[in-house]
This record gives sequence, structure tokens and C-alpha cells, in this order.
Amino acid sequence: MIEDHSSRPLVELWNLTGRRAVITGGAVGIGAQIARRLAEAGASVLLADIDQAAAAAMAADIAATGGQALSSPVDISDTTSIVDLVELAMSTWGGIDIWVNNAGIYPTTGPALDAEDDFIDRMMDVNVRGTFACSREAARRMRGGVIVNLASTTGFRAAPGISAYSISKHAVVGLTRALALEFAPLDIRVVAVAPGPIDTPGVRTQMTPLKEAGLDVEAVMARNPLGRRGVPDDIARVVCFLASDMAAWITGEVVVADAGSLAG
Ligand SMILES: NC(=O)c1ccc[n+]([C@@H]2O[C@H](COP(=O)([O-])OP(=O)(O)OC[C@H]3O[C@@H](n4cnc5c(N)ncnc54)[C@H](O)[C@@H]3O)[C@@H](O)[C@H]2O)c1
Repeated sequence: MIEDHSSRPLVELWNLTGRRAVITGGAVGIGAQIARRLAEAGASVLLADIDQAAAAAMAADIAATGGQALSSPVDISDTTSIVDLVELAMSTWGGIDIWVNNAGIYPTTGPALDAEDDFIDRMMDVNVRGTFACSREAARRMRGGVIVNLASTTGFRAAPGISAYSISKHAVVGLTRALALEFAPLDIRVVAVAPGPIDTPGVRTQMTPLKEAGLDVEAVMARNPLGRRGVPDDIARVVCFLASDMAAWITGEVVVADAGSLAG
């Protein structure tokens, strides 16, 4: 562990050359842009997704622009699948430096009174146990490095109609803090980003019924103090910072990136 980075130039602190990064849910949306930016910063990236074809296409796209990118299938609700992913990274690279727990599923919007047990279980299996199991299996093999979780502003402030999703992201905030303490002796930082609404395929799918019901989705996406729609790169840049040595003194912390919405 480097104790004092003071004499290192800023450009070196940002640089991720030689780092090996796994991004779950890396096929589309926020995960894909995180992979693209980490590769641009010099990291080798492994895009892992339940949609293997889309992950392979995204990895090929990143490789075509000069990045070091691979893909793999993974279902983060299945621990065997996670272990296979970790072992693939180890056999390919010999180590893992950055692990991004980005894969997650969205709420079916609806009242808690109507929430089915199967739906609640699936939300917890992917967003909570999947994120926990990925962190555990990665940390067993990592020799220092950083785990970055995707939380959400709904992990701080609940909203009606998305109760299961909201509690799953509250859990990701808690998991970030708990694992930061446990993994600190391993020289592994555990941090999170909490995005506000970001324009991704997942969000667009979720909003389709609302749009069909007449909601002005574009206006809703820009309803925040900065007054503009969030895009995946607004989150990917934060992840690059947290993954880099710029953030070497940050662990157990959640950075909110929401154009100011939680401020009011
Ligand atoms: N977009 C937003 O507004 C927003 C806001 C706050 C938090 N987040 C969080 O950011 C992360 C990414 O969001 P997004 O909007 O890019 O999502 P998205 O739905 O557009 O993409 C998610 C990706 O994860 C993959 N995935 C889903 N289940 C998986 C599983 N079991 N195993 C492996 N891969 C799986 C999907 O195939 C997809 O490629 C999620 O954790 C989400 O909760 C998003």
C-alpha cells in the first residue's frame, strides 16, 4: 500500500494502466459506459452480463477503439456463476484490481400492498445477495484494490411505488459500509455511487407504461436542480475517480451523483 501519494503527479494518479477491472452488467447502460471509461484510463476490462451476446458486442466495440476488453456470461444471482467469472479473470490476468458491482434489476412500479413474494425475492437475490456474493468472491482473490457498488438515491430517500427496489439499494449502502470495514485490512477499498435517474435501457423500459399513459418522460428525466437529463457518463466519470488512486483515502463512502436532487 502506498501511504502518501503527495509526490505523484495528478495524471499518474488518474491513470489505470495495468489495472484489471471486472464490470457486472457491463453490456449496456451505466455498466457499458463504466467499462468504456475504465478502458480509456488504461485498465483491462472484463464485461460480465446475463446477456452474453450484448456483453460480447460491447467488449468488441471497446476493443475496436483500442481498449483491452473481454466479455463473459454471468448471473449474479447464482454464486457458481460468480465463482466462474472470478476464476476466468484470475486465469486470464492473474489478478483483479477493480470490481464494479453494477448489475441490477429495476422495480415493477406498484404499491407495496400488491408486491408478490417472488418479485421481492428476485429483487433481493440480484441487487443484494448478488452484490454481496460478487464482493465476497472477488475479495477472496483480490490482493488489494477497490470494489465499487452501484447504489441509488432511492437507497437514501424512499419513493412510493418502488419499495422493493428502494430497500435493495438501502442494503447496498449498508453493504458498502460493512464490507469497507471488513476488507480494509486486505487493502481493499469498498465504495459506492448513488445515481439519480440516468437515461439507460433499463430506465426507458421501466418508463414505457408511464409514457404510454401520457407522462412527459423527457421532462421527468430533466427534473432536477441542474435541469438536464443524466446520462451514463455522468456516473462512469465518478466511478473512474473512485477506482483510481485519486480516491486512495476514500472507503465506506457513497458518492451521490444526482444533479442535486437529494439536496432539497
Ligand atoms: N439508470 C438509473 O437511473 C439508475 C439510478 C440509480 C441506480 N442505478 C443502478 O445502476 C446500475 C445499472 O443501471 P442501468 O440503468 O444501466 O441498468 P440497465 O437495466 O440499463 O442495465 C443493467 C445490465 O445488468 C444486466 N443484468 C441484469 N440482471 C443481471 C444478473 N442477474 N446478472 C448479470 N447481469 C445482469 C442486464 O442484462 C443489463 O445489461 C443498476 O444497479 C441500477 O440499479 C441506475
